[in-house]
Amino acid sequence: MPRIRVGTEDSIQPGAPALVRHGGVEVGVFQVDGEFRAYLNRCPHQQGPVCTGPTTGTLAAARATGWKLAWVLDGRVLLCPWHTMEFDLLTGQRIRGRGERLRAYPVEVSGGEVFVTIGRPQVEPSQGRQCVG
Ligand code: FES
Repeated sequence: MPRIRVGTEDSIQPGAPALVRHGGVEVGVFQVDGEFRAYLNRCPHQQGPVCTGPTTGTLAAARATGWKLAWVLDGRVLLCPWHTMEFDLLTGQRIRGRGERLRAYPVEVSGGEVFVTIGRPQVEPSQGRQCVG
């Protein structure tokens, strides 16, 4: 499986993902709260370039806010630019969805460099980062 160097840890900042391509596969690598995640740049809705959308938050009502809308998950939501579906960048799961999720790839940080392995079967986002250096 191809292990692709994405860049240094510092070069991938929150809200500014790096896009890497291998063959016909394009992957967006994100940094969220110090964690790295990599997702296929193809939305599960209609195959839009989801990784080119903005990183934002979302409005949600919860008991803690008296069931009033409040801004939550700031910096953790990826908004698909085609039809505005929202995905949690830490889990890949669609917010308020029906189980849709982004396809995740393993990310590894070694010696301050970030690598993504493209071509492996889908992994759970919790397995997306391994520190080896
Ligand atoms: S293609 Fe992403 S929301 Fe439709």
